[in-house]
Amino acid sequence: MTDFPEPKPLTSHGPARVVALCNQKGGVGKTTTSVNLAAALAEYGRKVLLVDFDPQGAASAGLGVNSNDLTTTVYDLLMRNDVKTRDVIMETGYDNLDLLPANIDLSAAEVQLVGEVARESALARALRDVVDDYDVVLIDCQPSLGLLTVNALVAAHGVLIPLACEYFAMRGVALLVDTITKVQDRLNPRLSMDAIIPTMYDARTLHSQEVVERVRDAFGDRVTETMIARTVKFPDATVAAEPILTFAPSHSGSEAYRQLARELMSRGVAA
Ligand SMILES: Nc1ncnc2c1ncn2[C@@H]1O[C@H](COP(=O)(O)OP(=O)(O)OP(=O)(O)O)[C@@H](O)[C@H]1O
Ligand SMILES: [Mg+2]
Repeated sequence: MTDFPEPKPLTSHGPARVVALCNQKGGVGKTTTSVNLAAALAEYGRKVLLVDFDPQGAASAGLGVNSNDLTTTVYDLLMRNDVKTRDVIMETGYDNLDLLPANIDLSAAEVQLVGEVARESALARALRDVVDDYDVVLIDCQPSLGLLTVNALVAAHGVLIPLACEYFAMRGVALLVDTITKVQDRLNPRLSMDAIIPTMYDARTLHSQEVVERVRDAFGDRVTETMIARTVKFPDATVAAEPILTFAPSHSGSEAYRQLARELMSRGVAA
């Protein structure tokens, strides 16, 4: 395992690299990775915007924000011209970490956007005003390959794919890669498939090891060296509505996300 160096402090901030966390398979660790990678990058002094792009609002909840009561969310930025992105962004109580919240309103956007001009670039348009304020923007996608996810891919410079190390992990990945390729061809040529992140890894089972082996055979060094182990501390942190990095700062799960942040910074995924 490479010893990824501590990143140098930044002397100035922005413009951000925008990274979408995607996998249409549910429950693979997209939100957990978004929240904790965001928290780890923020700990390293990077200015981070976490975009909750799932009507379930799990990323908002993961940072302790009850988005159900909010009157403006990312939905309003997609659908209305009179709302400013800066006015919807919230401080989180964590240094260097801001949130663009979502709630159930966003579920209507998929249908409502269809009739709009440039329907695929509504999120890119909304983020344009604020990319200079951040070093990294992370977009937590919902488990689908629909129009919202396409919006995330159009807004992004790169994609991270969390992949749970369990049966059928690879099922659906071909379709995801196909969607990424189509967006590259038709809408966003700069989009790069940055990395695949093995999650819910259980070193005690041969099965987990076999899955990782197969994923590494298929995707080579696009797969991060850092693997996120399966541990009950993650659901515990979810219930506590905190990143594991503050819920259990010295837990191996927190260390794993710090290491993932260092690995991704050394790969150039984040500054
Ligand atoms: N490494 C892990 N070990 C154990 N549990 C985990 C791990 N990562 C995430 N979980 C738990 O698994 C559940 C699903 O994780 P998460 O919400 O991050 O997945 P997701 O891909 O965002 O799901 P969805 O597709 O529904 O948005 C959560 O309860 C979370 O706490
Ligand atoms: Mg999620």
